[in-house]
Amino acid sequence: MRKVLIAYDGSEASKRALQYVIDFTGCLARPLEVHVVNVQNGPVIYGDYITGNLIEQINDGLLATAQRALDEAGALLKAANVSYELHPAIGNVPEQIESAIRQLSCDTVVMGTRGLGSIGGLLLGSVANRVIHDVSVPVVLIK
Ligand SMILES: Nc1ncnc2c1ncn2[C@@H]1O[C@H](COP(=O)(O)OP(=O)(O)OP(=O)(O)O)[C@@H](O)[C@H]1O
Ligand SMILES: [Mg+2]
Repeated sequence: MRKVLIAYDGSEASKRALQYVIDFTGCLARPLEVHVVNVQNGPVIYGDYITGNLIEQINDGLLATAQRALDEAGALLKAANVSYELHPAIGNVPEQIESAIRQLSCDTVVMGTRGLGSIGGLLLGSVANRVIHDVSVPVVLIK
């Protein structure tokens, strides 16, 4: 575990995932490279009466929302003296997580078992489930 991607949606489980990485770095002689991604689902656009300008505005708003969630994670990493990079993204959540792993050459993903969508009962949320299926690197799931 050298280059870690934390999938952060602001949920309690993702906060525990972040804390897990922070605690883990404290045990290492060589610092980890920590990346944090937040993905906002892209808008579904019907018809062709929506201008490119409007799409751009929607995307800016989504990126700002992603950045706000990431800043929260960044503040905790900073307080713990861990250096990090934040990656706001838009699109299909598991696909974007997978693409971040590839583009950043991360060797491990750390994420929660559940997220913001929590409907009690299920062990694993759909994003966690999809990521386990799709990625080729180890996935650390935090309850
Ligand atoms: N939009 C997101 N951006 C980044 N990471 C995410 C995002 N959504 C989920 N995750 C990561 O996946 C973990 C599991 O969340 P998941 O979405 O699978 O569960 P859920 O929200 O309880 O269920 P579902 O989304 O299927 O209703 C979260 O703890 C977080 O680490
Ligand atoms: Mg979810």
